[in-house]
Amino acid sequence: MIELAYSILAADFAHLADEIARAEAGGGTICHVDVMDGHFVPNITFGPPVVAAIRPLTKSPLDCHLMIEDPDKFIPAFADAGADMICVHIEVCRHLNRTLQLIADHGMKPAVVLNPATPIDMLFEVLPMVHHILVMSVNPGFGGQKFLPRSIDRIKHLARLRSELGLNFRIEVDGGIAHDTVASVVQAGADMLVAGSAIFHPGKTEANARDFLSVARAAGSTIA
Ligand code: DX5
Ligand code: ZN
Repeated sequence: MIELAYSILAADFAHLADEIARAEAGGGTICHVDVMDGHFVPNITFGPPVVAAIRPLTKSPLDCHLMIEDPDKFIPAFADAGADMICVHIEVCRHLNRTLQLIADHGMKPAVVLNPATPIDMLFEVLPMVHHILVMSVNPGFGGQKFLPRSIDRIKHLARLRSELGLNFRIEVDGGIAHDTVASVVQAGADMLVAGSAIFHPGKTEANARDFLSVARAAGSTIA
């Protein structure tokens, strides 16, 4: 199933409830929440209180992308706030197996995210434990960056591993995904599509989401 994970990083924070409603009216079914700590990435966003505030606004799963050092310390707070999925960066997890177990023990779906320079094969041992893998298609920290074309081969590599191992984790992609790049990532094997700046525009959010999904689904229907 191809889904739009709309990234609220690009939304108008003063009107988050309306922004979420518009993205969902256009077909968005996952709310992607970019948590940044100013250490792992050179930017600061929001944390568990904002997750708790948006929890009652939607029935969609809240997909929390933690761009933070020491994620283990904050996993219980995100669970209490109502997060459904937690993505941790492999680059900050010394004991990745333990971290993923901790997420699952708190009733959330575990996921791992990789920066563009991190080899896909580093994930091999944890693939059976994850709900999804998030492939960064820009360096994390900011919205509105240009899609890195090598991401296509990385998604294909991951999809090949999934079929060789007989697993069924989902593949998410994040960064520079827009109407002109979404078809190629879907054809490579991604099915959770994060998009922020391609979706949120005053007066156009609902139509943007709808058009984005129709391009993505058309590309999906051509996969053999
Ligand atoms: C970047 C974030 C993304 C960001 C994507 O570090 O992880 O989720 O919101 O923004 P766009 O879709 O504008 O590239
Ligand atoms: Zn993200």
